[in-house]
Amino acid sequence: MLGTVFLILNGLLVLLLLYTTRTRKKNEPPLDKGFFPWLGHALEFSKDAEKFLKRMKEKHGDIFTVRVAGSYVTVLLDPNSFDGVLNDDTNSFDFTQIRSNLLKKLFSLQLPGHNPKSERKWMQEHFQGLSLQKLNASMHVHLSSVMLKSPDSCSPLEWREDRLFELCYSFLFRAGYLTLYERSDDVAAVYEDFRKFDGLLSKLARGSLKGGEKKVVTTSQERLWDLLSPPSLNNGTGPDSWQQSYVQFLQNHGVDADMQKKAQLLQLWTTQCNPGPAAFWVLGFLLTHPEAMEAVKSEIRGLPSLQETSLQRNPLNWLQRQSTPVFDSVLSETLRLTAAIAIRREVVKDKILRMSDGKEYHLRRGDKVCLFPFVSPQKDPWIHKDPEMFKYDRFLNEDKTVKDEFYKDGKRVKYYTMPWGAGKSICVGKEFAVTALKQFVFMFLTHFDVELCSPNAELPPDNPGRVGFGIRQPDGDLRVRFRLKGSQPEM
Ligand code: HEM
Repeated sequence: MLGTVFLILNGLLVLLLLYTTRTRKKNEPPLDKGFFPWLGHALEFSKDAEKFLKRMKEKHGDIFTVRVAGSYVTVLLDPNSFDGVLNDDTNSFDFTQIRSNLLKKLFSLQLPGHNPKSERKWMQEHFQGLSLQKLNASMHVHLSSVMLKSPDSCSPLEWREDRLFELCYSFLFRAGYLTLYERSDDVAAVYEDFRKFDGLLSKLARGSLKGGEKKVVTTSQERLWDLLSPPSLNNGTGPDSWQQSYVQFLQNHGVDADMQKKAQLLQLWTTQCNPGPAAFWVLGFLLTHPEAMEAVKSEIRGLPSLQETSLQRNPLNWLQRQSTPVFDSVLSETLRLTAAIAIRREVVKDKILRMSDGKEYHLRRGDKVCLFPFVSPQKDPWIHKDPEMFKYDRFLNEDKTVKDEFYKDGKRVKYYTMPWGAGKSICVGKEFAVTALKQFVFMFLTHFDVELCSPNAELPPDNPGRVGFGIRQPDGDLRVRFRLKGSQPEM
């Protein structure tokens, strides 16, 4: 018996040594295994990925391989070399396995016959082109109703205090849900459970949920599956609604009823987890940077149609026709500072990656590659001067046109900010999201007086644990006071 235990322990030790004795081969990126066997840098990475990657970048440069919980991850931080991964034409990188592991872990979702290309095509049909106009119009109607007409928005001339993050998330989520799901009966319940689920999602991904939290996640997931489940589609959903069409798509691809309801939660999260937090940061930056707020208000005041026609007459068409470079720059700057995505791929064939400076690196089959645009380009001081500062006009040329030329070491940078991802998995809902955020901010500033409760209040710090999951969320909130303007909104 003792002998067997000894043999097993010996075997485990050999395996451990095999894992820990990986050495850097010729032409491979610098290798940093970290102090702990097997775990490597896992703890530091998951606690604050931005801080960890900045430290590694300083130590090793724009490309390095780190060990994270048994995996070897090559991190690439030179945006001018991203195309080697994003637009690789040698089929050396794959996203399918990483995606399906994530879907299983976060959404208990397994789609065996899943075809990502046809799903993306379906998404494009429904969020872009002709469908986009309809979605934009519907979003406008629902934003107006939740912001201006719902019982919990305030009455004219009466000041109300609230937490800005909660307020923005709630407005954008409700309007987005009503637009895509076309059901108003359960929006409050869906929102409540969604926030509980979303709040614990990054911990769920890292496997660091505590006892009580696990229960909260499971309960909210189950309630959301029920609330979103396809059978209740017949209760009030139009025949050609986005949701009904999605169910049809899943059925056509042989997805059973159980997985259909789980896929609904995935879509709810994909479409609703970013707009609310993004709206919070836009308004938060404007409120804490008076010169930026004045520039946006002045842009709205200066829009020709606003003086000629009433804002209420055909507000959406009016808004879409206008060029709003100042707002666009504010949005780009906000997303530069808050959109923290990680683009991950698995190396399925040995690959020589050519960097923009001409150096070549050998990437090993079985390793992973991760692009982390939040650290570079978005916060790269060689591309964006004072990268931690909010400068509302960073994306504006002097003649008030959109600035899209940024340089690093004298070379123009193609990917100078990447809040929407890039390549084959770039956000399908980008145009819809941009219009929704513009509608929301313009509606808010036109119809409400809004100010900070405490004039010197600052934006709360962001929660480092959410890095890698889209728009960052604050650790705390910002208290604001607001009231509906009188019958004739003006600024
Ligand atoms: C500020 C708002 C938003 C941001 C910053 C954002 C960002 C992103 C990013 C970075 C990705 C790619 C993730 C990856 O590489 O795997 C993505 C994917 C996606 N987004 Fe968005 N998104 C936003 C809003 C929306 C909205 C409102 C919709 C639709 C209503 C939407 C629909 C999608 C879909 C369907 C995908 C999956 C694409 C695929 O798998 O090929 N997004 N989004």
